[in-house]
Amino acid sequence: MALLSVLTPALALVLCMVVGFLFLKSRAPGTSPQGAGQAKAASEKEFRPWVDQDLQDDTEITTGGGDKDEWVESDDEKDLAHVPYSPQRYPEETMLQRSKDFYSLMNQRRSVRFISPEPVPREVIDNVILTAGTAPSGAHTEPWTFVVVSDPETKHQIRLIVEEEEEVNYRQRMGDKWVHDLARLRTNWIKEYLDVAPYLILVFKQVHGILPNGKKKTHYYNEISVSISCGILLAALQNVGLVTVTSTPLNCGPQLRLLLKRPTNEKLLMLLPVGYPAADATVPDLKRKHLDGIMVAI
Ligand SMILES: Cc1cc2nc3c(=O)[nH]c(=O)nc-3n(C[C@H](O)[C@H](O)[C@H](O)COP(=O)(O)O)c2cc1C
Repeated sequence: MALLSVLTPALALVLCMVVGFLFLKSRAPGTSPQGAGQAKAASEKEFRPWVDQDLQDDTEITTGGGDKDEWVESDDEKDLAHVPYSPQRYPEETMLQRSKDFYSLMNQRRSVRFISPEPVPREVIDNVILTAGTAPSGAHTEPWTFVVVSDPETKHQIRLIVEEEEEVNYRQRMGDKWVHDLARLRTNWIKEYLDVAPYLILVFKQVHGILPNGKKKTHYYNEISVSISCGILLAALQNVGLVTVTSTPLNCGPQLRLLLKRPTNEKLLMLLPVGYPAADATVPDLKRKHLDGIMVAI
């Protein structure tokens, strides 16, 4: 009897938890066939996530998921030769000067949203893309594709897709705080530069590789690798006096991928309009953090 009186509160608690769980489960969308249909329709119509669902760094998902036979075990090149490497070494004064010069060059980089239609030599673009392709990548998988668009009609199609999605982003997905933060930069969903800039560079990350025999190859840390290559691309553009604005058009990836006929293993990471700055271009008067605000010396 004494044992029962001790156990009763514990049993009651467990019972409550089970009943609560069953109740919540029965209310969850998609648990009945009717609910599933309604939930799907509702999610398609109303669900406007603020994150880009197309942009998961799914290295682990793709290696773990699907049919194991679809994936190649490891690279065939087991006997990769190693060669001597001795890059240029500078005297200390030269190093110091070069570090200052490069900082000065990069400190002049700004995101420019007013781009001139003036033509830019194609070979320069080829070279900046080659430079971006020098980035390090997880296990040297080079998981990037740079789509360079200069065709006016394709640029316009891109603009239509981006502006339509961006209007929904600004009006529904992003929330007041984000829209307010962007207001001071004077950005909105109108992207005239997508028509005007002589080149649009769309950077895709390859979430996995596809070998000539059709097998999939793991692309480790593909998003980090491609992001590094984008940083190098920005530096290369700055080096030749061209401008861009880093943009990550939220939820436009699938449509742009279809438009540009890219395979499904490629996900859009960035869209960079590239050209000379317009003669009357302005930029927000932003200040950058000082060294003691970004570096911790231990
Ligand atoms: C990941 C990322 C996404 C960005 N997306 C946009 C964008 O969609 N539209 C835009 O006008 N600027 C965008 N920017 C540019 C930032 O607003 C800009 O870098 C920032 O205001 C600092 O200005 P600065 O680049 O001139 O130094 C983005 C920058 C980064 C790094």
